Amino acid sequence: MIGFRIFGLVVLAVSVHAKWIVPGARWRDTDGGLVNAHAGGVTLDQATGRFFWFGEYKVEGQEEGGGISVYSSDDLATWKNEGIALAPIEGHPFIAPEHIIQRPKVVYSKNTNKYHMWWHADNSTYGWLLQGFAQSENIAGPYKFIDATAPLGNWSQDFGLFTDYKDGQAYGLYSNGDRKEGRDVYLTSYNDDITGLDKVIHRFDKYDLEAPTIIQTETSYFALMSHKTGYRPNNVVAFRANSLKGPWSQPFIVSPLNTRTFNSQSGFSLRIKGTKKTSYLYLGDSWDSNSLWESRYIWLPLEIDEEKKSLRVVWHDVYDLDVKTGEVKPIKGQAYYGKDATVNGDAFKQEANFGSHGVILTGITGNDSTVTFSNIKGAGKPQWVSFYYQNTDDMGFGDQPGGSPDRFGGKWQLRRISSVTVNGNKENVETLYQRDTHKGIILSAPLLLNLTKGFNNTITVGGLWNGWETKGADLDRLVVYPPEE
Ligand SMILES: *[C@@H]1O[C@H](CO)[C@@H](O)[C@H](O)[C@H]1NC(C)=O
Ligand SMILES: *[C@@H]1O[C@H](CO)[C@@H](O)[C@H](O)[C@H]1NC(C)=O
Ligand SMILES: *[C@@H]1O[C@H](CO)[C@@H](O)[C@H](O)[C@H]1NC(C)=O
Ligand SMILES: *[C@@H]1O[C@H](CO)[C@@H](O)[C@H](O)[C@H]1NC(C)=O
Ligand SMILES: *[C@@H]1O[C@H](CO)[C@@H](O)[C@H](O)[C@H]1NC(C)=O
Repeated sequence: MIGFRIFGLVVLAVSVHAKWIVPGARWRDTDGGLVNAHAGGVTLDQATGRFFWFGEYKVEGQEEGGGISVYSSDDLATWKNEGIALAPIEGHPFIAPEHIIQRPKVVYSKNTNKYHMWWHADNSTYGWLLQGFAQSENIAGPYKFIDATAPLGNWSQDFGLFTDYKDGQAYGLYSNGDRKEGRDVYLTSYNDDITGLDKVIHRFDKYDLEAPTIIQTETSYFALMSHKTGYRPNNVVAFRANSLKGPWSQPFIVSPLNTRTFNSQSGFSLRIKGTKKTSYLYLGDSWDSNSLWESRYIWLPLEIDEEKKSLRVVWHDVYDLDVKTGEVKPIKGQAYYGKDATVNGDAFKQEANFGSHGVILTGITGNDSTVTFSNIKGAGKPQWVSFYYQNTDDMGFGDQPGGSPDRFGGKWQLRRISSVTVNGNKENVETLYQRDTHKGIILSAPLLLNLTKGFNNTITVGGLWNGWETKGADLDRLVVYPPEE
């Protein structure tokens, strides 16, 4: 029997039931706190069969200095907060609070019988470009700092770690910075103790990519990396090879064009070998540069076609991943379309050949210009609702020309915010973050809502202030999912 919390309410499941994975939602740990483990890596502890998720711990108003947090799980969906695995130390030459401790990965070393943590170690201006190394006898830590070094004398920025499941060999994967002499990604093998890197296996030359991870199938290796657009997402690419030494294929984009990998950046991936199926999971970060600590996670199945030598990140609003069987089951929901919604104030229905039934709801500004979806069937329990929207702000880079894919020097608007009210209950207004898409690109954003039992629910969406303007994104439809039990 397991227990978990939804909005502070302890729910006891009658049997071991894995929670669903809802990419882009506010993920809560078993204490109800936001899961705070950014740019992380997940390590399967062979001893216990439990997954441990290590990531950057970020608090409001502070980008760096939180150290490395760790969470544990049996199902990759229910996460228990295990505290801080590597804490910053005041005055320390490499892990003081003002230093950068990013993209941590943990691997078990048979030879030392310890867990080894590796990360991108740097000063606040990215002037060192080193790799940090810490050890612990317990997977959850606390980890003891050992050293920060330049791998084979080279620079190292975004850090990844990959272990070949066939022979257990571990590899470091790292971009060597933004300078003209760098802009490569290295794949380098570790020594037998995993206490240092010893041999460059391949260099992805001059592609100028970052956030690397490798996923291994029975016959292929796919190396996923993102372009360099700071905290704004872009089209993640993959390379394929039969051997880590190469030859590696041309890079190719892994998600539908213009979705910017469903608003995420690569960083880690997991192979889940179940009793029925081997599944592959993409573990991406949905960075929120306006409030980094609120950044979300986009974890999605990878569909690999060995014959076509292709790999795709596949979107599901809500899915059930069974880590025992390896099966991924998308959950089916009920759609409610914009054409049937009521518009109030300045909100209106506009022709949109890319929208459902040729219509999109727009002009959703403030409290009076809202749209209401009616006759929604509810179950009387918390339910996931996905809001399919379009946000055409084109995610400008402020005054940095060339940063935005579609315009120079656009506005700094990462996301719009909408208010969501169920059955007119103003006491409980939810905030829906709607990140930038492109024109004609419809993506979805989830919220957990309490709908009453029956067919008479209404959901009203208005616009909220996002630091720039009071305006919600355009809406196409809602999809209401059944409750989890
Ligand atoms: C970071 O390190 C580089 C190289 O040593 C140095 O030039 C730079 O001043 C350092 N930045 C800070 C904030 O100390
Ligand atoms: C270090 O990086 C530079 C630039 O990528 C490369 O020319 C050099 O061979 C690298 N050194 C080693 C030991 O890998
Ligand atoms: C919307 O309503 C909230 C609370 O009712 C209020 O604080 C806010 O100023 C209103 N916004 C607009 C744009 O009217
Ligand atoms: C949903 O119900 C729970 C209690 O069952 C409550 O804590 C939570 O605030 C409610 N959420 C909304 C959006 O009404
Ligand atoms: C459905 O909701 C409306 C508006 O909240 C209310 O006026 C009506 O009585 C409700 N009908 C039923 C059958 O509950």
